[in-house]
Amino acid sequence: MGAVAEPAIKVEDLWWKYEGRKDWALKGVNLTIERGEFVGIVGPNESGKTTLVMAMNGLIPNNYRGVMKGRVVSVGMDTREHTTAEIARRVGFVFSDPESQFLTMTVEEELAFGLENMGLPVEEIRDRIRWAMEITRLDEEFLEKPPYELSGGQKQRVAIAAVLAMKPDVIILDEPTSMLDPIGKSEVFDVLVQLRRSYNATIIVVEHRLEDIAYLADKMILLYYGEVLRVAPPREFFDNIPFLLKHYVYPPEIMIAVHRLREEGLYDGPIPLRFEEGVKIIEEVLRA
Ligand SMILES: Nc1ncnc2c1ncn2[C@@H]1O[C@H](COP(=O)(O)OP(=O)(O)OP(=O)(O)O)[C@@H](O)[C@H]1O
Ligand SMILES: [Mg+2]
Repeated sequence: MGAVAEPAIKVEDLWWKYEGRKDWALKGVNLTIERGEFVGIVGPNESGKTTLVMAMNGLIPNNYRGVMKGRVVSVGMDTREHTTAEIARRVGFVFSDPESQFLTMTVEEELAFGLENMGLPVEEIRDRIRWAMEITRLDEEFLEKPPYELSGGQKQRVAIAAVLAMKPDVIILDEPTSMLDPIGKSEVFDVLVQLRRSYNATIIVVEHRLEDIAYLADKMILLYYGEVLRVAPPREFFDNIPFLLKHYVYPPEIMIAVHRLREEGLYDGPIPLRFEEGVKIIEEVLRA
């Protein structure tokens, strides 16, 4: 028996209050995220999701003013004892607004930027860019383009590729589709599916679109005004629809429809995670 692998992220009794605010944004959060897990974080607006993920990559407390109690250890680094730059190499962060992340003139420069800062050899940089573009399905023709000429979904894929190329142990995406139109959203979810398959890292996604995250996640976390109310695999998490609704988390229509059938005693199986699965259940009930 070897040593027990240390988790990707460990949050221990974390309290955080932004300077100038009366209330704590995080109130005694305890969480363990294992290596290789795909985690979905949900919760109503202003419930502290962004604050929590910023604490995981050290932006909090290092780049924000406020009061912190407790501890966050990300990939073995106590976030208070390391700089944001040190942590960012191991814990990548993709913002909802990809524009805010772009620093350079072309997609190629954007993808190379972090890698050059890491001091990697040219060959390695080229290989990593090719690899990141493959996962995010960006064609080579994009390389010469300025990021601002791309569509929203393409921009977000470039932002994800730039983080991915650094091969971080953990990738955090904070509502990566919230600024996008439906096509852009589905482009980004295709990338998440691809990440799940081909990149054996820890992935943490804050997302409102539950229909997309439900079947991808190993574990769902409900954050409710600074507190973690529930941590469970999607099957269990979505099984209690009334609990989610009570806390302003709105599951996809198809889940709600099946939940109603169950309440009426017409069905007694699990809540479907995928749309097609739900349609099948409804068809069977109608046929019976
Ligand atoms: N920079 C800041 N300074 C002061 N208060 C802040 C700051 N950022 C967030 N807050 C407050 O902290 C609380 C949690 O906000 P946070 O942005 O983490 O929530 P969220 O769940 O990400 O919300 P949303 O769904 O709108 O993205 C809110 O009350 C918010 O007003
Ligand atoms: Mg947020």
